[in-house]
Amino acid sequence: MVHSFKYIIIGGGVSAGYAAREFVKQGVHPGELAIISKEAVAPYERPALSKAYLFPESPARLPGFHTCVGSGGERLLPEWYSEKGIQLYLSTEIVSADLAAKFLKSANGEHFDYQTLVIATGSAVIRLTDFGVIGANAKNIFYLREVDDADKLYEAIKRKKNAKAVVVGGGYIGLELSAVLKLNDLDVTMVYPEPWCMPRLFTSEIAAFYEGYYANKGINIIKGTVAVGFTANSDGEVKEVKLKDGRVLEADIVIVGVGGRPQISLFKGQVEEQHGGIKTDSFFKTSVPDVYAVGDVATFPLKLYNDVRRVEHVDHARKSAEQAAKAIFAADVGKSVEEYDYLPYFYSRSFDLSWQFYGDNVGETVLFGDNDPASSKPKFGTYWIKEGKVVGAFLEGGTPDENKAIAKVARAKPAVEDVNQLAEEGLSFASKI
Ligand code: FDA
Ligand code: NAD
Repeated sequence: MVHSFKYIIIGGGVSAGYAAREFVKQGVHPGELAIISKEAVAPYERPALSKAYLFPESPARLPGFHTCVGSGGERLLPEWYSEKGIQLYLSTEIVSADLAAKFLKSANGEHFDYQTLVIATGSAVIRLTDFGVIGANAKNIFYLREVDDADKLYEAIKRKKNAKAVVVGGGYIGLELSAVLKLNDLDVTMVYPEPWCMPRLFTSEIAAFYEGYYANKGINIIKGTVAVGFTANSDGEVKEVKLKDGRVLEADIVIVGVGGRPQISLFKGQVEEQHGGIKTDSFFKTSVPDVYAVGDVATFPLKLYNDVRRVEHVDHARKSAEQAAKAIFAADVGKSVEEYDYLPYFYSRSFDLSWQFYGDNVGETVLFGDNDPASSKPKFGTYWIKEGKVVGAFLEGGTPDENKAIAKVARAKPAVEDVNQLAEEGLSFASKI
């Protein structure tokens, strides 16, 4: 039997949840929309998994963080989908997609057809086994993408009291997981190849603050090398991490966060790609008629910088999903919506720290504020200046109003006459815009 729907979303993550809400706002009729997800739960706010989900006390659990609570919206419980007549196919992985025939097949042998498809398959983790790292399939080496991964990790943290944890990778996962493991009283060592953490976004000065703060919390940081092998005990559980520089670290738990890759293999050769993602226009329409792509998988026009980008962050997942749903409904009645005009927004939280970044991290940088990791209330930031204009702004420890101010600066791109004066003015420069 073939399940037929007017609209199908493949993927049941952040984008799917926000798209579903927008479909309902746009007037989708009961029975018209299905979401097919390989996860066993309704769409949820994925960022919780590396933060409150792993807290030692009162950890966050579903149904507490289903979409769309992460942006202050209504929490869409599984019942919401049934009330609206949206069919949720959970624990259902699509294993083949024929975009020309508008036909999907699942691993459990179900068949689906549709008029309009939204691809929202997100990213998959890059594994150390992908690079042939010896011993990388030992037990207690964890990755974190889905709620199932978080459950396994949580269980290991509880089981291995006072354990030694090695965190491989100095990006988002590396920084957020190291902090939460420390909160669980583990002995934590981070290892990453670059000269400082989060090099894709942080300047060396920003990174120095977080590295100092983490060191003060008792986290060991080893930079400039990578894990090249693991040894295991007789139960197959990881015991040691071998580093390229010859050092060997004891480990009861290893967490790997060495990046993600968009899950687009189902569509290879059927749809145009760009920068590793599925190429879309400003309405998230792909090169194939009636097929849209949103969230981590979409490479889209970034109007503000006259560029095309792929963004692996939750704010874009939410907004691209809403944009696509609006565009689909407008197209159904021969209308159009405004072009997507996205201001990149990334954030992270760990310990008592919280930063936000808006805009583009290109050009020269100006640091302002108190970035002493030993301060009782550190608050500092950085502006990025390109061709005499502020194009990006970062702020640690900002209030909601201050964060709004840096977002406004990044959007407005004001001219800067004197870089030294900008450093002195710091946040008050943003507050004037
Ligand atoms: P998302 O990954 O949310 O959903 C994809 C869904 O598709 C999954 O349910 C998956 O199982 C399903 N799927 C894939 N292939 C399928 C198939 N063939 N058949 C059926 N289903 C399939 N960002 C940020 O800005 N701030 C933050 O603090 C964080 N924190 C954070 C923590 C952790 C642990 C992760 C992994 C990621 C973040 N992110 C983040 C990034 C953010 O969560 C991410 O950009 C969005 O979830 C992307 O939304 P998507 O809907 O594109 O993919
Ligand atoms: P990332 O790209 O942020 O960081 C990857 C890091 O891996 C690099 O910075 C580098 O330090 C390290 N690395 C690369 N190769 C390595 C190797 N061989 N050995 C050791 N280290 C190596 O990716 P991530 O931290 O894995 O995050 C995965 C995804 O989840 C991304 O899409 C990210 O945006 C998302 N995420 C976002 C947030 C947030 O926005 N706050 C939080 C968690 C996860």
